[in-house]
Amino acid sequence: MFHWLEKNPFFFAVGVFIVIAFAGLIEILPNFAEASRPVVGLKPRTVLELAGKNIYMKDQCIACHSQLIRPFKSETDRYGQVSLSGEYAYDRPFLWGSKRTGPDLHRVGNYRTTDWHENHMWDPTSVVPQSIMPAYKHMFTNIADIETAYAEAVTVKKVFNTPYDQPNGTKLGTWEEAQKAALEEAKKITADMKNKDVKDAVANGQIPEIVAMIAYLNALK
Ligand code: HEC
Repeated sequence: MFHWLEKNPFFFAVGVFIVIAFAGLIEILPNFAEASRPVVGLKPRTVLELAGKNIYMKDQCIACHSQLIRPFKSETDRYGQVSLSGEYAYDRPFLWGSKRTGPDLHRVGNYRTTDWHENHMWDPTSVVPQSIMPAYKHMFTNIADIETAYAEAVTVKKVFNTPYDQPNGTKLGTWEEAQKAALEEAKKITADMKNKDVKDAVANGQIPEIVAMIAYLNALK
């Protein structure tokens, strides 16, 4: 029936365009729906959490992990409540991912703790003997890029009107205030950690990547 189409490059190209445009619309339109507005009580990420998210992207955790719990019993039993689009309203970009070599992480903050992550990121097999996840020892010495995370927060605040510094929002403030807040947050995390070098670095005002990474993972709820 469509032989003539396959033999006519012009109309075939038009056909392909229409199909792709339709598929694109199906993906884009729901974002304008009420359901994709921020869920009640959603707060933008703190600067330290954003720095952790940037490490998550830099180190390609998304290659093995999704952040999207689908509406299947097997998933909600294991990971928790199904993910709502409004929960990602302040995520730029969102990190849904499409590959699950490891488990979904969208609510990992509900069932894993700082000390668990510390052991796991240093040597995954120390807590999950059969784990094939790579170790991320470099995060314990690399210093997190807080400045870029702050710049990012300032930008999304301006461009997308993300509710930083608004009543019930996350406090952003000036760069000096943000630096202080990130360090305070980091100190709370290192209180539950045992690695001496990491603790010393934070006590001296520097935040290793692992601390930002854990801040982010703990915030995934
Ligand atoms: C090569 C694939 C791979 C990469 C890359 C990877 N992981 Fe994993 N991850 C796994 C596998 C497999 C598991 C399950 C076994 C385990 O717990 O170690 C896992 C488990 C986890 C868990 C425990 C989840 C749970 O519910 O128990 C966390 C947290 C985690 N990964 C975080 C990360 C972070 C953060 C990164 C990036 C820095 C990362 N992973 C990169 C494969 C990967």
